[in-house]
Amino acid sequence: MTLAAILQKAARLPTVARDGWRYPVLRIQARREQTAVEALAALGFDLEELRGYERDFDELAPGLYAQLAERARAGGDELAAARAAGRSESSEEGKKLLYVGTRATRPRTVVETGPFNGASSAFLLRALEDNGDGRLHSFDLSEARDALGHPAGREPGWLVPDELRHRFNVTLGDTRETLRPALRRLGEIDLFFHDSLHTARHMLFEFRAAWPHLRAGGVLVSDDVFWNPAFLLFTRLHRVPFRHIGTMGVTRKR
Ligand SMILES: C[S@@+](CC[C@H](N)C(=O)[O-])C[C@H]1O[C@@H](n2cnc3c(N)ncnc32)[C@H](O)[C@@H]1O
Repeated sequence: MTLAAILQKAARLPTVARDGWRYPVLRIQARREQTAVEALAALGFDLEELRGYERDFDELAPGLYAQLAERARAGGDELAAARAAGRSESSEEGKKLLYVGTRATRPRTVVETGPFNGASSAFLLRALEDNGDGRLHSFDLSEARDALGHPAGREPGWLVPDELRHRFNVTLGDTRETLRPALRRLGEIDLFFHDSLHTARHMLFEFRAAWPHLRAGGVLVSDDVFWNPAFLLFTRLHRVPFRHIGTMGVTRKR
C-alpha cells in the first residue's frame, strides 16, 4: 500500500479520539521516550544552549504555574486553578518542550491550535518574551471545550497573564475553516503546535495545512500522538524523525 493510501485510510478512522488499543502498538513503533532536552538535541539543536533554556524554565515554571492558578481562582474557576496548581511531571515536561523548543527555534511566528484556558500558550508566550521577539497565533472554537467535553466557559486563552498578551492573537472558529486562510496570511511559520481535536482526520488536516508553511529547520509539535496513528504516519511520509516526550510528539522539518 502506498503512503498516500495509508494516509487516506487513517483519515477514515473512527472519530473517537481515545484509541486505547492502538496506544501500545504505536509506542512500540516510536523510539523510546525522551526528555524535552534529549528530544530537541536529537533533532539537531545545540545541547549546551538547550540546557541553558532548561535552567531558565526550571526557574520560571513554578512562578508561571502559580500565576495561572491565581488568575483561575480570581476568575472563580477552581477546576482550572487546581489543574494549574496540581501540575504533573509529564505535563510539565511537555511545557518544557514548548518553552525550550521556542527559545531554541527563535521564532517570529508560532501557531497553536486548541489553547483552551491558555496554559500551554502562556509557556509559548513566555519563551517569545524571553527571546524578545515573535508572536503566537492561536486558534480555538468560540466555545472552547476540554478533552472530556467540559466547556471552558471563558474565551480561549483567558488565563494568559496580561504582561504576555501583547504577542498573542486568538482566532475563534473551527480550524477546518480558520487555519488555512490564516496560514496564507502569515506566510512562513517557525513552530506549529497541535492541541485541538485529536482525531486522525483532524490531526492530519492540521499537519498537512501547516507543513508547507513551516520553514526548513522549523518544529512541529503535537499533543496526544498515541491516540491514533496520524503523527507516526505523517512523520514517516515526510521522512522526518518521530520523537516523543510522554504523549507529546515532536519533529523538525529538514
Ligand atoms: C485538550 S484542549 C487543549 C488544552 C490546552 N492546550 C492547554 O494547554 O490546556 C483542546 C482544545 O481544542 C479545541 N478544539 C477542539 N476542536 C477544535 C476545532 N475543530 N477547531 C479549533 N479548536 C478546537 C477545544 O475547544 C479545546 O480548547
